[in-house]
Amino acid sequence: MATSDLETQLTELQKQSQQAIAAVTSLDDLEQLRVNYLGKKGELSQILKGMGRLDASDRPRIGAVANEVKDLVQAALDKKKSNLQSAQIQAQLESETLDVTMPGIYLPQGRIHPINAMMDKALDVFVGLGYTVADGPEMETDYYNFEALNTPPDHPARDMQDTFYLPDGNLLRTHTSSVQIRYMEENDPPIRIIAPGRCYRRDTEDATHAAVFHQIEILAIDEGLTFTDLKGTIKIFLEEMFGAVPIRFRASYFPFTEPSAEVDVEWNGRWLEVLGCGMVDPNVLKAVGYDPEIYSGFAAGFGVERFAMVLHQIDDIRRLYTSDLRFLKQF
Ligand code: DAH
Repeated sequence: MATSDLETQLTELQKQSQQAIAAVTSLDDLEQLRVNYLGKKGELSQILKGMGRLDASDRPRIGAVANEVKDLVQAALDKKKSNLQSAQIQAQLESETLDVTMPGIYLPQGRIHPINAMMDKALDVFVGLGYTVADGPEMETDYYNFEALNTPPDHPARDMQDTFYLPDGNLLRTHTSSVQIRYMEENDPPIRIIAPGRCYRRDTEDATHAAVFHQIEILAIDEGLTFTDLKGTIKIFLEEMFGAVPIRFRASYFPFTEPSAEVDVEWNGRWLEVLGCGMVDPNVLKAVGYDPEIYSGFAAGFGVERFAMVLHQIDDIRRLYTSDLRFLKQF
């Protein structure tokens, strides 16, 4: 075979490959070209098979040409490959770019219901004083709701709280005071808890009464706690809730506390009752196995709705339950 034939084929391959490589637009196609030209069974190998038929004296020169062609094709492939790769990265970056100047999407914002806001605020104050949040079931036994709270079955104080009794003899708790008993049964003094929750009473609904409402219960038990500790704690709490308003303690009666008091705040020129409290009755301590000779404590309970109504001057408790957005948006 004539050396010129092989040489022509090599130069032809060189030219063709340059064009083909220039025209390629994807990395996959480029790889395919590499295989076609330089692969084991590629065009270059095919051409070089003809070398065996050359005169021995011609081989080195043609070999040199073949190497040169191979290097040129390889270089063209490499260059194209890096071009395609950077174009790919560029395209990816552009497609992922965030336009931080675009206007946002408007999502209407919900707000916290005044009952929840009130609870959160009260919890915050007591957690700040070192109290732990506790809870108990809304369906209760007579024992936890009444009996252990020094209110036996024929006790006249049961009339203070009209109760929903369930067919199985259980009841819907009329107050969160039941949590006191449950917590004390499971824990030893010292105790400082705050227990928020839903309560139920068979009241006729009107502007100030709801059958389902919310209470928060406070309980502190320790050695040497006195009425002074109760007063100081309630004072701090009410000041956090209502600001520096005048408050007064009035003697009252609850079966589970002795002595007992009701607390009023002066609000817009009127005294408003907001809370019941007292020193935990020794019978309550005995019911959970605490020795009243060693431990004493105080308790308090209040209605969350009542607080919200006083604070926000809401005239009817039912507004808190009707989910009227025109009303709720004011808070
Ligand atoms: N449980 C009472 C009620 O529902 C409120 C109450 C009064 C709770 C005095 C107390 C307390 O812990 O000491 O009316």
